[in-house]
Formats: sequence, C-alpha cells, structure tokens
Amino acid sequence: MGSAELNDFVKRVSERTDVYSVVSAYVPLTQKSGRYWGRCPFHNEKTASFSVSADKGLFYCFGCGAGGNIFKFLSLIENISYFEAVKLQARRLGIDLPEKKYSPEEERRRREEKILYRINELAQDFYYEYLTKTARGEIGRKYLAGRGITAETIENFKLGYAPDEWENLLTKFTRQDFSPQQLEAVGLVAKRKNSSGYYDRFRGRVMIPIIDVFGHVVGFGGRVLNSEDENSPKYLNTPETVLFNKRNLLFGLDKSNRAISAAGAAIVVEGYMDAISLFSAGVKNVVATLGTAFTPEHAKLIQRYARKIIFCYDNDDAGQRATIRALPIVQQAGAEVYVVKISDGKDPDEFIRKHGKEKFEELIKSAQTLIDYRIKYVLANTEHATTGGKFRALQEILPVVVNIENDILCAEYCKRISAALVLDEQLVAKAWKKFLKQMQETAHQPGKKFIAVKRQKIFERTDPIIRASCEVVLRMVWHENDMIDYVLTVLPTEIFSEPQREILFWLKNYEEQGRRANQMNAAEELSDEANAQLSRILMDGSDEPLDTEIKLFNDSVNILRRDVLLKKYHRILAQSEGYKSGDQEIYNKSIQELIKVKKEIDNLKGN
Ligand code: UTP
Ligand code: MN
Repeated sequence: MGSAELNDFVKRVSERTDVYSVVSAYVPLTQKSGRYWGRCPFHNEKTASFSVSADKGLFYCFGCGAGGNIFKFLSLIENISYFEAVKLQARRLGIDLPEKKYSPEEERRRREEKILYRINELAQDFYYEYLTKTARGEIGRKYLAGRGITAETIENFKLGYAPDEWENLLTKFTRQDFSPQQLEAVGLVAKRKNSSGYYDRFRGRVMIPIIDVFGHVVGFGGRVLNSEDENSPKYLNTPETVLFNKRNLLFGLDKSNRAISAAGAAIVVEGYMDAISLFSAGVKNVVATLGTAFTPEHAKLIQRYARKIIFCYDNDDAGQRATIRALPIVQQAGAEVYVVKISDGKDPDEFIRKHGKEKFEELIKSAQTLIDYRIKYVLANTEHATTGGKFRALQEILPVVVNIENDILCAEYCKRISAALVLDEQLVAKAWKKFLKQMQETAHQPGKKFIAVKRQKIFERTDPIIRASCEVVLRMVWHENDMIDYVLTVLPTEIFSEPQREILFWLKNYEEQGRRANQMNAAEELSDEANAQLSRILMDGSDEPLDTEIKLFNDSVNILRRDVLLKKYHRILAQSEGYKSGDQEIYNKSIQELIKVKKEIDNLKGN
C-alpha cells in the first residue's frame, strides 16, 4: 500500500469513527460543559479527570497527561501499535483494508514465519495424537490421570506426550519436507554437540502447548513424569525463538481472556499446572507466567482485558518473594493489585483439588490489597523490635504506599503503619514525605518514569498564565502554519516546554516542505508526550470568531515577551549591581542596556 493510499485509508476510518461510542465502550462517560468525562483508564484515580471531545476526536487526561486522537486511545488501551489500532477500528466498522504490498525480503520473511507457526501446530497435533491414541502414550495418560486431569482437559489444552526417543519427531517432520534448521528455529530439535545432525529436544515428557493471544502455537513446556529424576529439569521449555518470548507471553490467556474481561480481573499463578487445574475446575480467569518473573509486558497484556490483577503464587518462600517482586511492576502499570495467600496446600493446584471451586473463590474474595500484603510481609520478615529495625521496616513499606493519591487513604495507612511498627504517626508521615521527594528526584533520571513526575512536569513547570499563553500561541500556529516564523522570531524557544518545542519544530518542518500537518501525522510522528500536549491544546480551543482568537494570540505573545524581557531585566540589574564599585565603563553600559530593556517592556504595555 502506497503512502497516499494509506493516508486515504486512515482518513476514511477516522471520518466514520464515532469517538464517543468507541471510548465509552471502555470508560463510562458523563457529559459536562460540552465534553465527556470519565475515570482515566490509564492511571488509578477516583475522580474523573479524563476528558473526551467527541467533535474534535481527541482525549486528554488532566490527571496523568495521557492524550491524543482516537487511534492513540485505542492503541494505548488495547496495547497495540498505532496502525494496528487503525486496522482494529476499520475491522469494527467493516472497512476493507487496502492490499498491502511487501518488499521481496518482507515477503520471504512472512512466508518463513508462516511455516514456523505451521510446524508448531503440527507438533502439537503430533504430541497430542501420541498421548491419546498410541500404546506408548499410555504412560503419559496414566500420569495425567494420576493428577486428576480429565480427557476433556487434555482435549481442551491439547496436552500431549513426546516419545521417549532421540529422533522420532525429527525423522517424521523432515520427511514432510521441513528442514532440520526450521525445526531448530522453533526449538523442537537441537544440534548434536559431538557429531553432526540433530535430536529431539522433548523426550518422554508430557507436553503443554503455549499459545499466543492470536491462537498461534508458539512453544511448549514439557514436564518429566518422574520428578525425582535429578538429572533433568522438571520442566523443559522451548528456548527463546523468533516466535517464543517469555516476557510477552502468559500461559492460558488465549483461553481465559473472555473470562478475564467478564470478571474484570485476572488471577496470575506461577505454574502451568496451576492454570490448567483452576481452569478445569471452572475458575477460568486465570493465566500463568512461564517460569519467569512478572514483566511490565505481562501487566500490559492483562490490562487489555481487566484492571484488576490478583496474584496467587505458591505458598513457599520463592513464591512469596516472586509476589513481592511483581508488585511494583503491576502497580506502576496502573493496575489494581491484590494478593491471595493459599491457606492450605503448596499451590493453587493442590488447594483447588483438595477444597474445590467454591472454597477457592472464597479465597479470591478474601484477597488482600497490595499494601496490606506488603505491610504483613515486611512485619513477618524483618526484625522490627529495635528502633533501627522499625525504620528499616518502614523503608520497605513506603515504596508501595507512596503512590496513593487519596488523602483519607494516606492518613489511614499512616495510622496503620505507625500502629503496626509502634512508631509515632508524625514520624511515619515525615518519612513518607521524604521518601516521596526522593522518589520524584530519582525519577528524573532517564529510564525511570513515574506518573507523578510526568504530572509535575506538565503542571508545575511554569506559572499558569505563562503556560496558558504558550498553549494559545501553539494553537494558533497549528491552525495557521505560516505564523510559525513570526513566533520563532519574537519568542525564544526556551519558554516552551520540551514537548511543546517538539511540536513547534515538527510544524516548522512541515511548513518548510509546504505540507500541512494533521492529527494523523501528529499521532504517528510525535512522541507520546508531545501528542498528549497537542490534544490538550487543541481540546481547549474555543470556536470563537477568528478576530478574538487573533487578539488572544497577540495578548499571549505579549505576555510571553514581557516575561522574557522581565527576566532579562532582572538578570542585567543583578549584574550591574556587581559592576557598581568596579569598572565604571562596564557599569554604564549595563545601565544603558537596562534602560533599553525597560523601554521595550513599556512599549509592550502600550500594545
Ligand atoms: P512449579 O514447579 O510450581 O510448576 O514451577 P507447576 O506447574 O506447579 O508444576 P507441577 O507439575 O504441579 O509440579 C512453576 C513454573 O516454573 C517453570 C514452569 O513454567 C512452571 O510451570 N519451571 C519450573 C520451569 O520452567 N522449569 C522447571 O524446571 C521448573
Ligand atoms: Mn506447582
């Protein structure tokens, strides 16, 4: 698809999109003063600071600074790229996608990828048939039956068994015209170390296919039948391949996503078997990580379907430590986090087999909030009888409470923490404030982004009048591109914020090329911050007659220039004070300069 064709496509989708109905499918909205308002889906909040202007097709959150056009909204909330969001909306509207043209190289890569998916799919069938239909699969069937796994579950998860031989799959698949290299690329076979040739990676193991959200088989987990065998790991997994990346995958999500949406929550467990067991028992909103730590990608993946994440890890030290490590990650992703501690049994699988679905659901209902869990964990795992111990424990607890915005909740937790540690409430409050400040300072270092800091950057940067004036100026430049040179001549760019400068120079670039920038280009080419800033600016735009807009623009330019000149005036004034008792010539010069600046300021007033 050429770029003109692409633009046309995006434009058609955009024109037919009803912004209100798209957004309100995710966020309940109410109308107030010509806009729609709701609780922001991109950060945790109690009051509605997320606003949508349906006629302008834009959204902006005054809480966290997220903003952009409708495709930006979709891409953020569905965790997909901008263009995928356009395509998603096109599909919903029944608009056909223009045929895509690939370069020969891309074409080849896509063909190869299809083959790799196909190989995995055939391998899944192969293991499944071997388990369910062959005499040699008996041992696998026995194992699963012994764990209470029914034929229905085997069918549902397409569980399998890998023959206990070195080249069974290899021979079979190479006979079907797949090359050993292709089999190696998906991790089904590995190169022999001491001789040439390849061998089957999975042998004599129960096979658990891992499927991505699109329904592709991307890898496998293979469990040994005899856990006592010290020489081989309990689970052997597909290594990292072009199709298989553990950071981005959650086992079971392909089956549980609907239930997760319906329940508004996802239960995260550690083991394949936990997920399979819960799902089969009828607790269907469950996913498992693949033996790795919980990543921000996992959090995003879940948040496509639900805001609430409930951790239900194993009841051992490792499980509890993994929970603690996962918590800040999900919290930072803006999820509502809960933790369930298994009361009886080592893991969710054991619990539900022993006590059944109802008892497990009760357990889920009794889930603690992240903060309560953290407080208990710290109290149970640190010495906090001495003063030093109390403060160390406090430092462990503070990271999870410091992001609470609600004042009443803050006070409540302050009380609870001070009671738990037997510390003075004032002391806790003081330590809390100090920690918050430190966190905001370190967050300024690259790579560490906190919403709180983003907010600070947007709202506390300059005084409100200056900020509003910058916004008016930018809005004018957006509508009247040829004003840009004037603006850049009369105003130093330092007065604009970083994202605003980005917008300015981006517009200048368009202007120089004689092209006109629009919302679509902006959403694709500007950074998230600049996009959000642009939405905010354009949403505030009044539909007043043009001459009042021009007056507002001129006033704003004057306010900004005055601000620049005043700062200059004070700088020179301070300098001249220093020269007073020194070189008279320099002193006189600076006084003259002062008079000049003063005149300029007075001239501005006369405007
Ligand atoms: P568990 O040992 O808790 O898994 O490890 P499980 O599914 O509950 O196992 P059983 O069959 O009931 O005993 C948690 C997860 O860690 C990964 C797997 O993804 C497993 O599901 N793991 C564990 C490995 O990758 N390799 C191992 O050797 C062990
Ligand atoms: Mn387990």
